Amino acid sequence: MAGRRGALIVLEGVDRAGKSTQGRRLVEALRADGHRADLLRFPERTTEIGRLIGSYLVKEKNLEDHTNFCLDWCKQPDVGLPKPDVILFLHLSPEAAAERGNFGNERYENSSFQEKVLQSFSRLMKDKTLNWKTMDASKSIEDLHREIKSIAEETMQEVQNKPLGELWK
Ligand SMILES: Nc1ncnc2c1ncn2[C@@H]1O[C@H](COP(=O)(O)OP(=O)(O)O)[C@@H](O)[C@H]1O
Ligand SMILES: [Mg+2]
Repeated sequence: MAGRRGALIVLEGVDRAGKSTQGRRLVEALRADGHRADLLRFPERTTEIGRLIGSYLVKEKNLEDHTNFCLDWCKQPDVGLPKPDVILFLHLSPEAAAERGNFGNERYENSSFQEKVLQSFSRLMKDKTLNWKTMDASKSIEDLHREIKSIAEETMQEVQNKPLGELWK
């Protein structure tokens, strides 16, 4: 039918929140139900935003001004991109994230840095033009998967006859 479309569902969160795990699980489950589903990795850009902002936050004392300036600047390259139908924010404390596998091996994997990234997310989440849903990422992989799948199915139903939006326009 003309006009029907799929949903653009974004998983966000700090390192080790479970984005890759849940993204894979969701695509597998949707395919098993006969849907067409693809996993796109947009991380080198989207998580880069959080990282960039975080790196400024670490250096700057005047947080509010610099953060707002930096946030607008970081958002520029993504203006006009397809707007996610829903952004699932997998919320996990830096302490809980640190307890998950291999934490600390990479440059940004330390709790104080991830704390800054979390603060940057909370600023981005004040943007009410976006459909953010906060998920408790400390739940088991299976429980979280069930919740995410149910939101994905609802979203697919809701948006199928609606036009895709443009980000920050
Ligand atoms: N809900 C969960 N509970 C416990 N461990 C988890 C959970 N989700 C993911 N993990 C584990 O945490 C690590 C990071 O998960 P991953 O999906 O790669 O996170 P991200 O892509 O957000 O960095 C992996 O070792 C994964 O198996
Ligand atoms: Mg990942």
